[in-house]
Amino acid sequence: MRLLVTGGCGFIGSNFIYHILDSYPDDVVVNLDKLTYAGNLANMERAQAEHGGTRYHFARGDIANFEFVSYLIKQYAIDAVVNFAAESHVDRSIADCSPFLQTNVLGAQSLLEASRRAGVGRFVQVSTDEVYGTLGPEGKFTEETPLAPNSPYSASKAAADLFVRAYVETYGYPALITRCSNNYGPYQFPEKLIPLMYLRASVDKPLPVYGDGKNVRDWIYVADHCLGVDLALRRGRPGAIYNFGGNAEMPNIKVVETMLSILDKPKNLISFVTDRPGHDRRYAMDYSLAAKELGFAPRYDFTRGIRETVAWYQANADWLRGVQDGSYLEFMEKWYGGRL
Ligand code: NAD
Ligand code: DAU
Repeated sequence: MRLLVTGGCGFIGSNFIYHILDSYPDDVVVNLDKLTYAGNLANMERAQAEHGGTRYHFARGDIANFEFVSYLIKQYAIDAVVNFAAESHVDRSIADCSPFLQTNVLGAQSLLEASRRAGVGRFVQVSTDEVYGTLGPEGKFTEETPLAPNSPYSASKAAADLFVRAYVETYGYPALITRCSNNYGPYQFPEKLIPLMYLRASVDKPLPVYGDGKNVRDWIYVADHCLGVDLALRRGRPGAIYNFGGNAEMPNIKVVETMLSILDKPKNLISFVTDRPGHDRRYAMDYSLAAKELGFAPRYDFTRGIRETVAWYQANADWLRGVQDGSYLEFMEKWYGGRL
């Protein structure tokens, strides 16, 4: 397969490209990434060293650039597109949602249109459980759960999902959507809960837990999400939506305490801070459709996944230092400044 993977210098995209290059010796990957604050060329050093110019090609650019995307599809004879490119952080969408509209909505639609016009036969839109909104104490999201996004981020992802749906219905375009719960693992940018808590606990800084710390997320190790997207790409029904989850529902406070225990740090580092506005209370995924149609099942339990994640961050201190540039520090200072 000849794949155009977008956002491949980000967290999940880079894990996905390694999964493809390592699993399918005949596949070729073109990585289109704009290199925003979250995109990091260092993530793809091994791909570049082992397969650069043969099975792996990097193109810096914007998914919203219709001409450039069309050129790449033609130049590399692309037969499948997997769209990871996005603004992905809920807190940043609360601070300023315009880049979210630009990339997650307009960019996704432009990519979809370029792919359709070029006759690309497979298109996977990587979406999120957050489009379903929030759950009470019981139940899980299924693919039939109505869309009810609560943050500017999730509203932008839901909008893209609706465009995919419209392209399926209007043009019969064989796109499909995957929706996954919270990922963690190597290469995750330290604005998200798990790497942020690792980063701060390791230097004895207070850990900002929003609200009462009882909001629940369903954690999935990134390799399992990549497996799910791959299965959807190769076996998925055109037009379908597939949920993926990790069978690891947990309140945030438990995640933070687990991190402290692995690092052997005291609980008094925890600092309860003002809640995130519009903070969804609970997510949980019913992935029985993906299990039935794709044979999907997560392989990592949280205990194993979090230990491997911490070990990766410990072994990659240079990577972690390298991503904390001026814009990172500026956002963190603005966002957490009054809270901590
Ligand atoms: P990330 O923020 O780590 O990476 C996003 C990547 O997209 C970066 O490399 C960035 O440079 C690139 N990018 C941004 N705008 C672009 C544009 N206009 N054109 C080209 N490239 C652009 O994000 P992530 O956590 O890896 O998430 C990847 C995808 O998975 C997103 O679509 C996100 O909504 C979805 N998702 C994430 C999670 C999660 O837990 N992180 C869960 C479910 C779904
Ligand atoms: O559910 C899938 C989504 O998971 C993805 O679509 C998003 O791209 C991804 O960022 C993630 O969104 P969340 O908002 O759930 O992830 P985040 O790591 O920002 O927060 C996880 C939980 O931890 C959430 O309940 C908020 C809380 N939190 C987060 C941060 C950054 C804190 O309590 N303190 C913090 O400092």
